[in-house]
Amino acid sequence: MRKHVASLFSLLLLSVVSANVSASEKKAAMAVSPAADRSALAGDGIAMFLPPGIADYPASLALAKTPVSVGPLPADWPIAPKFSRKAGKTFVSVTVPEGSDLYGTGEVTGPLRRNDRSIELWNTDNFGYADKQAAGRRLYQSHPWVLGVRKDGSAFGLLFDSTWRAELRTGRKIKLSSDGPPMPVIVVDRDSPQAVMRGLAELTGTMPLPPRWALGYQQSRWSYYPDSEALRIADEFRKRKIPADVLWMDIDYMDGFRVFTFSPEHFPDPKRFNADLRARGFHSVWMIDPGVKSEPGYGVYDSGQARDVWVKDAKGKDYEGEVWPGMTKYPDFTRPDTRRWWADLYRDFMAQGVDGVWNDMNEPAVFNVPGHTMPADNQHRGGGDMAAGPHLQYHNVYGMLMVQATREGIEAANPERRPFVLTRANFLGGHRYAATWTGDNVSTWEHLKLSIPMSINLGLSGQPFSGPDIGGFGGEATPDLWGHWIALGAFYPFSRAHAMKDTGRKEPWAFGPEVEKAARIAIERRYRLLPYLYTLFRDSSIDGLPVMRPMFFADPRDADLRREEQAFLLGEDLLVVPKWARAPKLPKGVWRKISLVEGDGKDAYQAELKLRGGAILPLGKVVQNTGEESLGPLTLLISLDEKGEARGRLYEDAGDGYGYRQGDYLLTTYRAESRDGLVRVDIEGAEGKRARPSREIVVQVTTDEGVFTAKGDESAGISVSLQPPVL
Ligand code: GLC
Repeated sequence: MRKHVASLFSLLLLSVVSANVSASEKKAAMAVSPAADRSALAGDGIAMFLPPGIADYPASLALAKTPVSVGPLPADWPIAPKFSRKAGKTFVSVTVPEGSDLYGTGEVTGPLRRNDRSIELWNTDNFGYADKQAAGRRLYQSHPWVLGVRKDGSAFGLLFDSTWRAELRTGRKIKLSSDGPPMPVIVVDRDSPQAVMRGLAELTGTMPLPPRWALGYQQSRWSYYPDSEALRIADEFRKRKIPADVLWMDIDYMDGFRVFTFSPEHFPDPKRFNADLRARGFHSVWMIDPGVKSEPGYGVYDSGQARDVWVKDAKGKDYEGEVWPGMTKYPDFTRPDTRRWWADLYRDFMAQGVDGVWNDMNEPAVFNVPGHTMPADNQHRGGGDMAAGPHLQYHNVYGMLMVQATREGIEAANPERRPFVLTRANFLGGHRYAATWTGDNVSTWEHLKLSIPMSINLGLSGQPFSGPDIGGFGGEATPDLWGHWIALGAFYPFSRAHAMKDTGRKEPWAFGPEVEKAARIAIERRYRLLPYLYTLFRDSSIDGLPVMRPMFFADPRDADLRREEQAFLLGEDLLVVPKWARAPKLPKGVWRKISLVEGDGKDAYQAELKLRGGAILPLGKVVQNTGEESLGPLTLLISLDEKGEARGRLYEDAGDGYGYRQGDYLLTTYRAESRDGLVRVDIEGAEGKRARPSREIVVQVTTDEGVFTAKGDESAGISVSLQPPVL
């Protein structure tokens, strides 16, 4: 592919230039040109369409690899884009089957079902999702991807492979208007939404398996400082027996907001501090923003100057913009050398015992300028597969390229450990580099409810590892709101509470004993579910299916489920119905209510959890952090189907590192069958070289008559009697 790149990009550039000058183009622009002149099958149920003037698939930032033709498009291929150009813009229109419900489209506000929306693809620092012009129609990330589900439950996906600023309108016709040149469009057409999501993963790759600790509950605030205050928070969790795994260090840890520095006053010995946190069973994540303070004498700035790493303005001078430290310069992450320089900065940083990195403000955000970002005519120099181009072209991938470099730096610094990176800005395909949170929400019921369709649609846009700031970032949370939010938040794939500077305290104990108790129960439920959650994350790292799923995944043919956005699924087997949900639409079939922690059924805040008939849920015991042994005992919670059968899977590995790639893991499939009042549970299959730990197994069969329990040895099989005990 590489050898085509130069000529392709000159073609692309030519088409931009000629757009403004060519008379024939102006004429052609009046009419919609016919469908793409080059189309081909690019995989099972995957078609690619190259617009007129593009001979080969150009280098793509969204895709993990360049698609290649595997044959001609069948004559009955149902969905094809039409391209046209007008006034330097590209228009793509795709007519989709009548009655299709639309999803995906990334991180914007609005209902789960994304029909009849206008979405702006232009990453924006958007406090409270309340931008004066755009409201929530553009947020921190862009995903030029639509998932459509037909009436019959079959599905399709449209991927517009362009990073340029664009607007996406959804309806019977899906229309993209882009400020850039014509782009390839990929159409996935398969039997189910799940199969289409697998197709998206074949194209854009999957999330790398995160370290297990990153699935624990996480506590953040802007900012916990000095170091003694951060340790005090860690101690509170342990004292109050509220499980937690991660403490977050926001910008005030830095020396004057200079990235890759530590305040000598507040964090004089970060290595020691990180070790102190570790001793308490906490991992630490530290913030790094892209803007580097323009200040000769500051090492990061000086080395950036020496290597000329910065984004340039239209005249070719280093662009400067204001962020936390004052005037800063912005690394040009389109340049391979800038990415190497950036990656190298993490060597010393990680050596301080830092566990994870939080890249923020990477839309990139600029204070006190219109649009909160750098001018669209700023210049990126590119390199490798990436052509030089204006900010208009690279704005949407600024954050993604930043986290790509961050991840590479962390990997090089700690080659034996799995990186954990969180990013605010990102782009379709960026799940390959970082998890995400949904930026600066506020402490309102509206934002609590909105977080569900937002996270689900992020998952349906390829990003399985997301969640909002639990409790809301801006504004004050009432105890009731925070209680409901943590009860829900325990089930987001990424489960972190955060709070804005100058807001009241938002730790689980800050709202009185009743909410503290609710928080403990909710977080304990998450910890019991960790074996299941980790199995889901592992699945997602292979097949790209979301962890948090829309209800219609349970039955894509059931039209009633298509708009459900209060209740949702975790994986295939667990249904989460928030306490406040009104008349949620639930799937047909057997779904049994379960309890994971004593008191969770009676508590005023907890979501109702239901287990699919036919499922076996692997559960751990309540631990205070993921470093503690949680599978002694391992509980298998069983909900039999109408035939009296159930199956479930458990994935185990070292929890960090890459041994699993050499087979150091254990993936067990359990099977339960009921016969003559006895439920027999056996290992049906196992995969991986990891030795089966000797451990106690508790089997619980949940039925309409109650829960029946037995203990035993999983290798020998366990039988549970469904007879009520004789008193
Ligand atoms: C941005 C982030 C927020 C963070 C703050 C200070 O607003 O979105 O999470 O706390 O910056 O770093």
